[in-house]
Amino acid sequence: MDSRSTFSSRMGLVLATAGSAVGLGNLWRFSYVTGENGGAAFVVIYIICVILLGIPCMVGEFIIGRSQGANAVRAYAKLPKANNWWGLVGALGVLTSIVILGFYCVVAGWCLHYLGCALADNIPATSAESAAYFKNLNENTWYPVIWGIVFLLLTHVIVRFGVKNGIERVSKYLMPVLLFLLFVLMVAACSLPGAWRGVKFLFQPDWDCVNVNTFIEALGQAFFSLSLGMTCLCTYASYFDKGTNLVLTANQIAILDTMVAILAGLIIFPAAFAVGVQPDSGPGLVFVTLPGVFHTAFSEMPTMGFVISVMFYALIVLAALTSTISMHEVGTAFFTEETKLSRPAAAWIMTIITVIITIPCALSQGLVPQFSVLGMDLLSFLDTMSGNYFMPIGALLSCAVLGWIVPSDYVRREFVGSQPRLAVLFLPLIILLRFVCPIFIIVVMLSKLGLL
Ligand code: TRP
Repeated sequence: MDSRSTFSSRMGLVLATAGSAVGLGNLWRFSYVTGENGGAAFVVIYIICVILLGIPCMVGEFIIGRSQGANAVRAYAKLPKANNWWGLVGALGVLTSIVILGFYCVVAGWCLHYLGCALADNIPATSAESAAYFKNLNENTWYPVIWGIVFLLLTHVIVRFGVKNGIERVSKYLMPVLLFLLFVLMVAACSLPGAWRGVKFLFQPDWDCVNVNTFIEALGQAFFSLSLGMTCLCTYASYFDKGTNLVLTANQIAILDTMVAILAGLIIFPAAFAVGVQPDSGPGLVFVTLPGVFHTAFSEMPTMGFVISVMFYALIVLAALTSTISMHEVGTAFFTEETKLSRPAAAWIMTIITVIITIPCALSQGLVPQFSVLGMDLLSFLDTMSGNYFMPIGALLSCAVLGWIVPSDYVRREFVGSQPRLAVLFLPLIILLRFVCPIFIIVVMLSKLGLL
């Protein structure tokens, strides 16, 4: 059965999993969250969160997925000593992936629209113009809806072809292109006059900006960026073969993902500072602040401005696509294995459910402002809900099941696999999964709720 095939090579496996991790989280979210939280100090805390919490949780999801070789719901339910109730953790993962995919496609759709604008060479030139442009795009046109759906269909087409022929094959082509674009753009942005101030912002810590909130943001960003807490990596790991070194893989993904985020910072901040734009303009950074930046920065070389803009939006679109396929796969694997449907039919179910979320999310951005919950537009509401509640709860329960429910001999055997050298790392892993990660996640959740 194709859905239970494995990745065909280690390279493909790493690129596909890194593709899941590298996405809007690195290019769009990391830059504005860093901008809002004081730059370098945030980056340092972020890296600590990745090492201490991100990597162990990732290894945990890998263990669950690979040991069961099944979709998330079945994988959690079938763990030794777990019962069907634990399947609900997998179900929460499937639900979260649908929700995140739903609104992620809206943002990815904006990127697609801007890529079109860049290609047609009519990117708004100044920040004021682009603010008006972005507002008009959302309030008066159907483009966000259309592009969001187009993006989802693009994802659908890839996932439909399965793990080897769809996801792995596409990742093998897209990831190298993505890294190449990133590198060229970084060189271009850093060579602008005044760019050093952006580099300094990213690398020179200002510890005065740090408070409890910085830690909360850093943890949330680490989980989002590494695709943790919604069984996405557990689903991918179900396609790993038993010889895969889980620690090495998790480290490689974490390093690649962090590198991409920092490289993206080295594009965005130098470019923003070079033209005198503030880096803390929030989620609109990439769509409101940045579109004109490259044109202004390269105003003496218009062709260069054009090429750089196209490359920048192409980069974001590719990064988003390798992430949306991983979210889509969570549901597609579930529907394929738990119903009698073929993989293409299961993929359609996933796409149709998702589109029901994507459309109102896109409309809530301006065309139908009534689509709002608790004073937030639907997109921000779902983003907040999934980031603040679903993902931390998912991650917490994953740590709990491995740390406290599943017999530790079993966890050890699955962790070590065919790599006896890993045995020494088992104790630190189990301590992190049992105590450090859950405590940290609970503290963060309570303080987000204002209870601490
Ligand atoms: N990690 C991706 C990003 O940085 C987004 C993503 C893909 C994700 N799969 C996920 C986030 C699973 C949370 C859970 O953009």
